[in-house]
Amino acid sequence: MDETNRDEMQTHTNDQAQGLRTKFGRSFRVIAITSGKGGVGKSNITTNLALTLARDGRKVLLIDADLGMANCDVLMGLTPKHDLRHLLYEDVHIDECLSKGPEGVDLLSGGSGVAELTHLESEQKWRLLDALDPLGERYDTLLIDTGAGIGTNVQFFAGAAQDVVVVVGPEPTSLTDAYSTIKVLANRCGIRRVLVCINNVTTMAAARQVFRQLHSVTSRFLSVVVELAGWIPSDIHVEKAVMTQVPFTTAYPMAPASQGITRLAESILRRPPETGRAGGFQMFWKTLLASEEYVT
Ligand SMILES: Nc1ncnc2c1ncn2[C@@H]1O[C@H](COP(=O)(O)OP(=O)(O)OP(=O)(O)O)[C@@H](O)[C@H]1O
Ligand SMILES: [Mg+2]
Repeated sequence: MDETNRDEMQTHTNDQAQGLRTKFGRSFRVIAITSGKGGVGKSNITTNLALTLARDGRKVLLIDADLGMANCDVLMGLTPKHDLRHLLYEDVHIDECLSKGPEGVDLLSGGSGVAELTHLESEQKWRLLDALDPLGERYDTLLIDTGAGIGTNVQFFAGAAQDVVVVVGPEPTSLTDAYSTIKVLANRCGIRRVLVCINNVTTMAAARQVFRQLHSVTSRFLSVVVELAGWIPSDIHVEKAVMTQVPFTTAYPMAPASQGITRLAESILRRPPETGRAGGFQMFWKTLLASEEYVT
C-alpha cells in the first residue's frame, strides 16, 4: 500500500468510525449473510462488513460457516491453525480456534471436514454451546457467512440470526435462486424480514431494477418483508484485493465497493433488529442448538 493510500485510509477510517458512532447506539447484533447462487460475493461482503463494523468500534466475531468451502481466512490473509472442526471433534479450546484478523475482528473458520451441523452428535452440540456461550461478553456483533443455497446449515444459522442479508447478483439465475432461498427462509425458518444486498452492478439504478424484480415476486407469493439494504458496485478493486489477500475496505478504502460496504453497514444498523429475534448472544446459541427442527 503506498503513502497516499495509507493517509487516505486513515482519514476515511476515522471519518467512518465517527460517522457510524454518532448515528447509531450500541446494540447486540447477529447478522447472517447468505445467497441462493454461489459466487455472488458473500464472503467478500461478510469479511469487509466485519472490518467496517469493527472500525466503528464494534467487537466483531466473524464465523465462516461455509463448511468445507470456508475462505474468509484467505480473504483476510490468515492461516488459522485451528478451526470449528478442532473445536467440535478434537476438544481444542475455543480461544485457540479463533484467529485474529485485521481491525481486531476475530474469525472462527469453518474449516474442512465438518459434517453438516444438523448432524452433530449431542456431545458436539453441547461442546459448541459451552465454547461459544461466554463469548457474548467479548463481542457485540456476530457476522456469519452461511454459504450458498438452501442447505440445512444455511437454515440452521439464518434461522437463529436476528437479521439475514441475502446477496443477489444481477444475473437472472441469481434472482431465481435468491427467490428460492427467501422462500425457504420464510416458510421453514420463520423469518419475517429479509435484507437484500445487490452486488456487482454498475449503477444504483441497475441495483434498484434487480431489487424491483425480486420484490415483485416475493411480495406476491411470500409472506415476508424484503427490503433493499444496500448495493455494491462492480469494482476492479475487489478482485485486486482478493489476489493480494488484503480485504478491499483495507487496501482501497475509497474504492466504490468500499463505499458500498459503508452504506450497507449504516443501513443494517439503522434498522432495529427483527422483532422477537433480539435475544442476545446466549439466546442466539440456545436457539441455534435447541432447534429440534434443524438439530436432530
Ligand atoms: N462487487 C464486486 N466487483 C467485482 N468483483 C466482485 C465483486 N463481488 C465479488 N466479486 C468477484 O466474485 C468473486 C467471488 O466472490 P466471493 O468469494 O465473495 O463469493 P461467494 O458468494 O462467497 O462465493 P461462494 O458461494 O463460492 O462462497 C470474487 O473473488 C471477486 O472476484
Ligand atoms: Mg464464500
